[in-house]
Amino acid sequence: MVAFTSQRPRLTVLGTGYLGATHAVCMAELGYEVLGVDVDEAKIAKLNGGQVPFHELGLEALLVRNLASGRLRFTTDHAEAARFGDVHFVCVGTPQKKDSLAADLTYVESAVLSLARHLDRRALVVGKSTVPVGTAERVEAVLHANSPAGNEVEVAWNPEFLREGFAVEDTLRPDRLVFGVKSGWAKDMLDATYRGVFELARAEDREVPVVVTDFATAELVKVSANAFLATKISFINAMAEVCEASGADVTELARAIGYDVRIGSAFLRAGVGFGGGCLPKDIRAFRARAAELGVGHALDFLSEVDKINDRRRQRALDLATELAGGSLAGVKVGVLGATFKPNSDDVRDSPALAITAMAHQAGAVVTVYDPQGTDNARRALPDVAYASSLDEAADGAEVVLLLTEWEEFRHVEPLALAEVVARTRIVDGRNCLDPAVWRAAGWELRLLGRP
Ligand code: UDX
Repeated sequence: MVAFTSQRPRLTVLGTGYLGATHAVCMAELGYEVLGVDVDEAKIAKLNGGQVPFHELGLEALLVRNLASGRLRFTTDHAEAARFGDVHFVCVGTPQKKDSLAADLTYVESAVLSLARHLDRRALVVGKSTVPVGTAERVEAVLHANSPAGNEVEVAWNPEFLREGFAVEDTLRPDRLVFGVKSGWAKDMLDATYRGVFELARAEDREVPVVVTDFATAELVKVSANAFLATKISFINAMAEVCEASGADVTELARAIGYDVRIGSAFLRAGVGFGGGCLPKDIRAFRARAAELGVGHALDFLSEVDKINDRRRQRALDLATELAGGSLAGVKVGVLGATFKPNSDDVRDSPALAITAMAHQAGAVVTVYDPQGTDNARRALPDVAYASSLDEAADGAEVVLLLTEWEEFRHVEPLALAEVVARTRIVDGRNCLDPAVWRAAGWELRLLGRP
């Protein structure tokens, strides 16, 4: 039996970053009463004021609407969260540790402990953060040892697969849900918690498959999914290296193998490689955890995946150097894109920003334009210049580097851009321009994995 304090379980969301803020807003949108919790007062003030602290399509409108409905609030008070919630989602960050490949679990531990001290009635704590396998058991032990309600507090693990840029859509319409649980009660509570998601799917004639499993499997699902995706990208980028050596075209190769349903065409876009706040640190933490478990050799290939990914950054720089005639020293370079992918302002582990830093190191005079990521990029890499438009970044450039495939860049007119630059030379780091069109317009073009 599911015992609610109201008709539907009341939800709290601990951690209001990309994952938590989106989850909180979307669950409120689905009709739940939600309290978002964070230790960062400035962030909480912003959210309560209707402002999303990062760029995510469609999220701010939903935030504003659900604040107005009264279903959604944000606080820094864990005691209030414990009183309010039947189900508490843990959505805090698990970044890479400064001194090793492993995940830093400090935020998970402190969020869980801060909540535990106030939990004096039956409740479900649901982990969503990406964590090393074994964390759910530790979280359960911390809760049982530190909550006034003791063993009445249960744990579930419910990994999240949302993509930046599609976070709202992925949360409202997930392609699957994974419930790592130990009891029927925990499973029932999760069913009730996601009733809104199931109802929406039914109304749209869809189904959301649910995989009910144990803690360890649920934790591993997330990291193995990300490891697979990273491997797929590095696979095609390894093929790009072979294509470069043999005169073949990796985009045609990807298209041809992608028609095989066993392979599939998604995540076969060769280019400067993967970045972001998830894939890079998740595959590293996965390797570290496997080594702790004595099966490090099983994931040795992920170190190769990382190396292939890094080599693409160097390759993009080499192509730019080649276009510049052998050296970037003193060369004016216009960089298009700083974020790790389009429709995001996230520059964490961004290939675009890393290549920009390498060009700067090589002596190039760099000006960067990104439609959304400039503020974050400037904080991460203050030593280069930033422009507020594409034309401004390209103005007088001797080499242009296209490093993030924003719509605005994909559709840029080669003849119009030619008017602005000093030399019509461009590296397409994302294979998103039509080489025939650009070459016909007089551009010298270099691509990754293509002649
Ligand atoms: C990823 C996972 O997709 C998501 O399920 C998980 O929850 C979090 O990590 P995200 O970090 O938002 O999501 O980015 P994603 O869209 O997966 O792209 C990751 C990186 O791979 C980007 O830098 C992107 O440019 C790159 N990429 C993606 C390629 O280089 N080629 C491709 O074919 C696909």
